Amino acid sequence: MLIGIDDLNFYVPSFYLPLATLAKQKGELPEKYHHGLGQRHMAIPSLDEDIVTMAANAAYPLLKKDKGKKIRTLLFATESSIDQSKAAGLFLHTLLKLPRNMRIIELKQACYSATAALQFAYALVAQDPTHEVLIIASDIARYGLNTPGEPTQGCGAIAMRITTQPTVLSINPESGCYSEDVMDFWRPNYQETAIVLGKYSTQKYLTVLKQCWLAYQAKNGKPLDDLYDCCYHLPFCTMAHKAEKTLHILNNKPFNAEKIMPSVFYNRQIGNTYAASLYISLLSLLAHTELNLSNQHIGAFSYGSGCVGEFFTLTVQSSYQNNLRTMAHLHMLENRTAVTYEQYKQWFEYTWPTQGESIICPQITTGRYRLKSIEAHRRQYEKNPHHLELVP
Ligand code: CAA
Repeated sequence: MLIGIDDLNFYVPSFYLPLATLAKQKGELPEKYHHGLGQRHMAIPSLDEDIVTMAANAAYPLLKKDKGKKIRTLLFATESSIDQSKAAGLFLHTLLKLPRNMRIIELKQACYSATAALQFAYALVAQDPTHEVLIIASDIARYGLNTPGEPTQGCGAIAMRITTQPTVLSINPESGCYSEDVMDFWRPNYQETAIVLGKYSTQKYLTVLKQCWLAYQAKNGKPLDDLYDCCYHLPFCTMAHKAEKTLHILNNKPFNAEKIMPSVFYNRQIGNTYAASLYISLLSLLAHTELNLSNQHIGAFSYGSGCVGEFFTLTVQSSYQNNLRTMAHLHMLENRTAVTYEQYKQWFEYTWPTQGESIICPQITTGRYRLKSIEAHRRQYEKNPHHLELVP
């Protein structure tokens, strides 16, 4: 029985900060960000967007045909949680009118949690093949103004439906995992921004990639030659170059930097989306590779600081091109508005009331769903009356 991704869609808010603008402000050369980090823009959430609105916008197209009637589990992967207790997926349950007879839970382990969700979904669907799982990964990457991590911020969400009829990618059971208690990147409860040892985190990422690859090989994983390509967690896009090079050196194989380009096409324009980034990269590879990838095997490396890593593979299904939504994604990215540095800083520094005061959110986003208000500590969401339908 095949199990895998039947449908997927990503969403980014309607605003971005060009990294050339940030470079000018910080007195850096734009080439450092464009070529050194491999990033062009970073997606910015407006004040009426958060992980729930991004998630709802990502999931909406996946539920159009049958309203999600077969979904029995919603796994919400995030490290930008809006509540210490209640799962963000419950807000989605109302917004998207999901079935009552289902379970909903939030998962956290830095950027790795969507991969944990994928593996849990695989087991749930194997246990009951009539069961469908909706996975959401939604995050806002925040490092703080004037920190080295600032140009590697971003935000976005991806939604994936896991079923026994995967029209896009089937998940192969072999995988290699590695975990170790390290402090490379973390965010204590009292912090709005992450604490990161940037260079150490990058080294740790590559060490964990090697360990996961070796563990994958030990489980009779496919040799590197058998994989058409690999996709990686992308905190910034040149990380894919570092990862690809590491894997090829480890396997004594020649390394072709150009091959990475299709898998970073979307991420270059968005920035780090933490848990969502690997899956946006996978979608980017499928959408922007000219060759027909049917039946090809794709490697995937997931890394969550702290740290947990996993290397696994997926197989491209023959009907994959029908569910990539490439036109819609390109329209979404092209129709965003660039913000000035001052606007970005104002939104970044905005502080929400913490004493239960009521606040009506300014109407800014053009997304389908928005945060309307916070009243007595309760977040209220709504369908956006000013939503712009970009693609017919
Ligand atoms: N033209 C071209 N390239 C240039 C350049 C120029 N003018 N100026 C600099 N560069 C290159 C540098 O040579 C360097 O390349 P290498 O990585 O190949 O050495 C690259 O641009 C970056 O320059 P620096 O190393 O000087 O950059 P920095 O010290 O300011 O910070 C960073 C880089 C450490 C990644 C920082 O942005 C950061 O801390 N980011 C957040 C942490 C992070 O993303 N870690 C990744 C692993 S952890 C993870 O994956 C989980 C997660 O999501 C956070």
